[in-house]
Amino acid sequence: MPGRLRDRIAIVTGAGSSGPGVGTGKAISVLFAREGARLLLVDADAGRARETLELVRKEGAAAEIAVADLGNEAGCAAAVAAAVEHFGRLDVLVNNVGILGGGPITELSEADWHRVLDVNLGSAVWMTKHAIPAMEKAGGGSILNISSIAAVRGSGSVPYAASKAGVEGLTRDVAVTHGPRGIRVNCILPGHIYTPMVAQMSDEDRELRRRIGVLGTEGTAWDVAWAAVFLASEESRWISGVSLPVDAGNLASMPIAPILRMRGEGPAG
Ligand SMILES: NC(=O)c1ccc[n+]([C@@H]2O[C@H](COP(=O)([O-])OP(=O)(O)OC[C@H]3O[C@@H](n4cnc5c(N)ncnc54)[C@H](O)[C@@H]3O)[C@@H](O)[C@H]2O)c1
Repeated sequence: MPGRLRDRIAIVTGAGSSGPGVGTGKAISVLFAREGARLLLVDADAGRARETLELVRKEGAAAEIAVADLGNEAGCAAAVAAAVEHFGRLDVLVNNVGILGGGPITELSEADWHRVLDVNLGSAVWMTKHAIPAMEKAGGGSILNISSIAAVRGSGSVPYAASKAGVEGLTRDVAVTHGPRGIRVNCILPGHIYTPMVAQMSDEDRELRRRIGVLGTEGTAWDVAWAAVFLASEESRWISGVSLPVDAGNLASMPIAPILRMRGEGPAG
C-alpha cells in the first residue's frame, strides 16, 4: 500500500551504490520515495548520489542530494542542516553508510581501524546527534541504523565487527535516552545479502552464502529496504531499541545446521 511514509522528510546516508546494481541505501531510498517520503540522499560520491536521485525522482518523490564525507562530525552536521534547509523539518534518519576494511586483529593497521570506525559508527553517532534537535522540533522521529550480523558473529574484520556492534549499542542507548521525547531508534542486521559491496566475491562463495541461510534463497538490498520502510513508518510506532536480523534465519540457526542441510541431513534437508 503506497503512502506509508507520506510527507515524511527522510535522510538516507550512503544513498548511492558502490558499483553497478542496488545497495541498501539505493533500495531504501527508492522504496521510501514510493511510499511518499521526501528525501535527502547523502553520499561522498556525487555520481552515485545522482544515480539514486534519478531513480527516486522517477518514483515521483521530491528529493535532493548532499555530497559529504560522513566520517567526521562536520560532514554529518552539514548533511542534517541541508535536509532542514531543503525541506523545513526532519522525521526519519537512516544511518546506512558503511565500508569494509581492516582484517584480523594481528594484521590490523591504525589507519584501517580509525577509518572503518569513523565511517561505520562515527557517522551514525554524529548524524544522530545533529538530527535529534530537528526531530524534536518536528514532534518526534524514527532513526534506523544499518548494522550487520557481523555485530554478533565473527567474520574476520575487527573494525567492521566492532563498528557494527557499536551501532547496536548506540541504537539501544539513544532509544532509551530519547524515547520519552518521541524518538524511536531501531537497528537492522542484514545477513549475507548480495549488493555491490560484496560483488567481487566468487560465484562459489555467493552460492555458499545462499545455501547457508535457512531459507536457502539469496537476500538482496530490497529485503532490507522493506524492513526499513516498516521501522520508519507509523506501523512500528511502539517498537524502539530493537535489532532486527534480515538474514534468512541465519542467526537462528545452530552452527552445524547449515552443513547438515547442505548434506541433506538437517531439518527440512
Ligand atoms: N552487502 C552486505 O552483504 C551487507 C551485509 C550486512 C550489512 N551491510 C551494511 O549495509 C550498508 C550498505 O551496504 P551496501 O552493500 O549497500 O553498500 P554500498 O557499498 O553499495 O554503498 C555504500 C555507499 O556509501 C558511500 N560511502 C562510503 N563511504 C562514505 C563516506 N565516508 N561518506 C559518505 N558516503 C560514503 C559510497 O559512496 C556508496 O555509495 C553498510 O552499512 C553495510 O555495512 C551490508
